[in-house]
Amino acid sequence: MTLVAEEFLQYVAEEQGHADLLAERIVQLGGKPDLSTERLLIRSHGEHVEGDSLVEMITADLLAERISIDSYRAMIASIGDDDPTTRQIVERIPAQEEAHAENLAGLVRD
Ligand SMILES: [Fe+2]
Repeated sequence: MTLVAEEFLQYVAEEQGHADLLAERIVQLGGKPDLSTERLLIRSHGEHVEGDSLVEMITADLLAERISIDSYRAMIASIGDDDPTTRQIVERIPAQEEAHAENLAGLVRD
């Protein structure tokens, strides 16, 4: 497996971990996570871009990481002091997204 494929696979596992954290919190709050793929795509903050080359794929992923960082920051600001537990859970995520973005930016440069 190439270095980029290994990176992507690792990010997928970490993104899944973020989804699991948030879904678990929704359940703790008495909600039911909506995991319908169709509705997830509609509500997505980023756009799904296939990319014709490896550089295009990495660039699209880099953009998606930056959008997700902005979205998590907006969520944290929106939660404010209303729900410290949820806020602490969401605050753990952007650091990992920033590491993804930094690594992807490095791959694009190389
Ligand atoms: Fe990420």
